[in-house]
Amino acid sequence: MLETCLLCPDDAGLSEAARLLDAGGLVAFPSETVYGLGGDARNDRAVARIYEAKGRPSFNPLIVHLADAADIGRYAYLPEGFDRLAGFWPGPLTLLLPLRADAGLSPLVTAGLAKVAIRIPAHPVARALLRAFDGPLAGPSANPSGRISPTRASHVMDGLGGRIEAVLDGGPCAVGVESTILDPEAPPVLLRPGGVALEALEAVLGPIGTGGDAAKPSAPGQLLSHYAPRGRVRLNAMAGPDEIAIGFGPGPAALNLSRTGDLVEAAANLFHMLRVADDLAGEGGTIAIAPVPETGLGRAINDRLRRAAAPR
Ligand code: TXA
Ligand code: MG
Repeated sequence: MLETCLLCPDDAGLSEAARLLDAGGLVAFPSETVYGLGGDARNDRAVARIYEAKGRPSFNPLIVHLADAADIGRYAYLPEGFDRLAGFWPGPLTLLLPLRADAGLSPLVTAGLAKVAIRIPAHPVARALLRAFDGPLAGPSANPSGRISPTRASHVMDGLGGRIEAVLDGGPCAVGVESTILDPEAPPVLLRPGGVALEALEAVLGPIGTGGDAAKPSAPGQLLSHYAPRGRVRLNAMAGPDEIAIGFGPGPAALNLSRTGDLVEAAANLFHMLRVADDLAGEGGTIAIAPVPETGLGRAINDRLRRAAAPR
């Protein structure tokens, strides 16, 4: 068992985090979406430890985080029309791009696939860490595989404390759902709805296919259950007397994703409220969640809720 230290994101904390990463250690870091579990993407041992710490099936590949969009060409081939996407970076958009043979990344990062997922996070602490480390960071969400994603340093400590070297504490994540994953190769395909709304991407790229699923790149169907609380989850539901309600829009529920029906606020609250509801419901309890519209960030919210409710 490791002693996981909680680091302040000041100069001393950032250089300690970079030192740990250089030595092959694992450091969880805040991003604008959720906390990521960072490890050197060039180091096989560090990447293997990420899979081990999360208990993640090794066929499920990892996103590579870079400090600047200008660095992408070192690791992947840029798609035609790449410049049109520049306005989304840095930010919650991940692109699936053909991996360069000379990228120097551990093959474990892509789980042997020919494309690599790359993202330039916008969070100032993530950017400062990437600059201090000066290299590519593999970074899945910093939760045990299949469980609720972390949007606060305390969530990371609860799930991975004792398994990783450190957590950089950057406070709560502003976006609250993971990045949107897009394969931009014509015709472009959405692989995971996320922090950038599909409508915003379509305004720039034109129609985008929605048949893909990043949660099952090579093993269809196996990872539908995800973001799972311990209890049962009912969707589009009114809570019964013994159930814990999570509301959306005006209503009596004590837990409410957004009383004003704001999808951005609801996304930011989603994972923390699922955790609170899960603690209240306990083992064998039920969480009933009000309907959320399937537009804008609602697509990402409903995707995560469907997986939380999926049979295990
Ligand atoms: O917002 C985010 O994207 C967060 C923060 C930390 O950046 N990261 C994140 O990573 O959500 P993770 O590992 O929890 O989810 C990444 C998803 C997985 O479903 C994985 O299968 C898919 O991206 N993915 C990663 N690399 C891929 C690849 N080369 N081909 C296909 N799918 C890939
Ligand atoms: Mg995840």
